[in-house]
Amino acid sequence: MQKQLRVGIIGCGRISVMHLDPAVSLEYSNLVACCDIVYERAEKVAKEYNVNAYVDYKEMIEKENLDVVHVCLPHHIHTEVCEYAFKKGVNVLSEKPMSIDYDSAVNAVKVAKECGVIYGVIFQCRYNNSAQFVKKTLKSGKLGKIISARSVLTWIRNDDYYLESDWKGTWDKEGGGVIINQTIHTIDLVNWMIDSPFKKVYTKMSNRLHPAIKVEDTAEGLVLYENGVRYSFFATNNYGIDEPIEIKLHCEKGDVTFNYNDAYIVYKNGEKEEAHQQTNATYKWAMDYWGIQHITQIEQFYKACLGIEPLDLSGEEALKTHKLICEIYKQGKLNFHNEV
Ligand SMILES: NC(=O)c1ccc[n+]([C@@H]2O[C@H](COP(=O)([O-])OP(=O)(O)OC[C@H]3O[C@@H](n4cnc5c(N)ncnc54)[C@H](O)[C@@H]3O)[C@@H](O)[C@H]2O)c1
Repeated sequence: MQKQLRVGIIGCGRISVMHLDPAVSLEYSNLVACCDIVYERAEKVAKEYNVNAYVDYKEMIEKENLDVVHVCLPHHIHTEVCEYAFKKGVNVLSEKPMSIDYDSAVNAVKVAKECGVIYGVIFQCRYNNSAQFVKKTLKSGKLGKIISARSVLTWIRNDDYYLESDWKGTWDKEGGGVIINQTIHTIDLVNWMIDSPFKKVYTKMSNRLHPAIKVEDTAEGLVLYENGVRYSFFATNNYGIDEPIEIKLHCEKGDVTFNYNDAYIVYKNGEKEEAHQQTNATYKWAMDYWGIQHITQIEQFYKACLGIEPLDLSGEEALKTHKLICEIYKQGKLNFHNEV
C-alpha cells in the first residue's frame, strides 16, 4: 500500500485552510499536527481536523515524526523555520515568498540540498488552466518569441487589513507590500513565461493611501530581460474591488491575454484559442483571489516527496522569481515616496 506522509502545518492563520484541506483529503498524506504561537488558533484547527495542537514548531517536529511540514507563516521567519525542518530531515512546502531578502533564500536552497530533503515553494497560480495553457503554447513554438509583456493588478487592501496583523505592512516582517504579497503571483507568471534571466530593473514605489503602514501600496516598473523581452508592471492596493488581474504577452505570431481563470490567444493569421478554469471546487473561508490550485501544487509536492515524480516548483525554481522581487525592492526603495 502507498505510504502516507505524516504532515504538520505551521501557522494556522488565513491561508492555512488551503493547506489543511488538501492535507486531509489527498491520498498521499495524513495530517497529524498543527502549530501556531497563538494557542487558540492551533486549538481551533486541531479540534476541527482531529490532530494534535502545538505552540512550538520545534516541539511538533520533535514529537510527531513528520515527513512534511507546510510553512504558512509571516514572511520574515520562512527560511529560519524551513532550515530547522530541513536539518531534522523533514521536507518543506513553504508559502510564498521564500523570504524577505535574496541571500537567506539562496541559503535555504543550499541547506535543503545538503540535508537531502525536498523544498517546495507555493506559486499556485502556475497550476491554473489558463497559465498552463499559455505556457504549453509558448513551449510549442506556435506563438514564436515573446517581444513584450505587461501585467496589471488593481486590488483593495484597506488599513483594517493591515491593522488586523502584527506583520503585514512592515518592512522588517512582511518585506514590502503590494509587490511581495499580492502581485508576486502575476510577476511570477510573467517571469515563468519569459523564462530568461533579467538584466535591468526600473521601479517606482509609493504609499499613497495607507497611514497605517510604511510599505508600498502602489508600484510600477520595467524589467529588461537578457533575451530582449521588455516587461512593464503596475500594481496597487488602492482600487475599489479586487479586479481580476490582467497579463498580456505580445509575441511574434500573436497576442495572449490571460488572468487566473481565462486565457485568450489571437494569432496573426486570425486563428483564436482559449482556455478556462473548469472546477466547482470551493474552500471554506477561502478568498476568490487565491484561486483554487493550492491542492494541485500540494499533490505534486507530495508525489515528489514519495518519489513518484520529480518536483515541479522547487526552491531553485522559485529563486528565479524571488531574485526579481528582491531587485524590484532594491530599486524601488531608492526613490520610495511616502505620500501619506
Ligand atoms: N499563495 C497565496 O495566494 C497566499 C495567500 C495568502 C497568504 N499567503 C502567504 O501565507 C503566509 C501566511 O499568510 P496569512 O495571511 O495566513 O497570515 P496570518 O497572519 O493570517 O497567519 C500567520 C500565522 O502564523 C502564526 N505564527 C507567527 N509566528 C509563528 C511561529 N513562530 N510559530 C508558529 N506560528 C506562528 C500567527 O500567529 C498566525 O496565526 C504568508 O507567507 C503569505 O504571503 C499566500
